[in-house]
Amino acid sequence: MLLHKIEEVRKHVKNWKKQGLSIGLVPTMGALHAGHLSLIKKAVEKCDKVVVSVFVNPIQFCPGEDLDKYPRTLEADNKLCEEANADIVFAPSPSEMYGEGQMHTNDFLTYVIPPFFYTNKLCGKSRVGHFDGVCTVVNKLFNIVQPDFAFFGQKDAQQLIIIKKMVKDLNIPIEIIPCPIVRENSGLALSSRNKYLSEEDKTYALALSKILNNIKSCYKKGITDVNALKETAYAFLNEHHELEYLEFMNENDLEAVTTATDNTRVFIACKVGGVRLIDNLLLGE
Ligand code: PAJ
Repeated sequence: MLLHKIEEVRKHVKNWKKQGLSIGLVPTMGALHAGHLSLIKKAVEKCDKVVVSVFVNPIQFCPGEDLDKYPRTLEADNKLCEEANADIVFAPSPSEMYGEGQMHTNDFLTYVIPPFFYTNKLCGKSRVGHFDGVCTVVNKLFNIVQPDFAFFGQKDAQQLIIIKKMVKDLNIPIEIIPCPIVRENSGLALSSRNKYLSEEDKTYALALSKILNNIKSCYKKGITDVNALKETAYAFLNEHHELEYLEFMNENDLEAVTTATDNTRVFIACKVGGVRLIDNLLLGE
């Protein structure tokens, strides 16, 4: 069932709660692919009722980012959600979520601001304010849907860690369920932004997963010095790659490490053909 209004969702939620049914929420920005569908599948397995939100959240895009050209495919998304047995697709307009004309300034909107220690690195470094926008919209969705469980992909590992931190710090009574990264057979992590890649760029995009897998196999062979592990990446990079970061962080608190352990997550962001791609991998997995 496709709903656009907060009040309509609330009506269903109230009804479900009255019946004692468990509710799962899968927040997305649409242009759904098998990565999103793996979250929805997990939610349907675990919960009595499932809400998928489809909302390209303007306040998490920085000036100059792809807000206007971000793929919007609501009809196809709704069909995929129906096939996956989701109960509600919630697709609000920006003004339904934020009111008219308020959303681009925190002079007029209450924000949820995650700690600087978690946001001044990795994607947060180049996307200033991005995670403020993410935490604010996720909080709003939590309040609208009041789920018992909410499902997030490891694909956006920094986002997942920040949301877990928000839930803990603000005592939000929702269990966050992490879901593994879904990849093409080639190793390329699925992303809505892969649509922007030409066939040729797609082959260059494989460098991200190749770099991560190579680092992991070096680690398994006993190399733990982070600088030495970083060095191994350069063999996979050429003039088609614009590396933004390759970082080694503690999985739980995003503290940078100099010696890799099983708890170290390796994060990479790289532009290919002007498209910004991210990937990551836990060394102990
Ligand atoms: P979006 O990029 O649409 O992603 C929605 C969810 O799908 C996120 O939890 C993301 O980690 C997960 N996901 C995307 N690609 C995946 C893949 N290949 N494998 C597994 N999971 C994958 O992330 C957002 O939207 C937004 O920031 C949002 C949380 C909805 C807030 O606006």
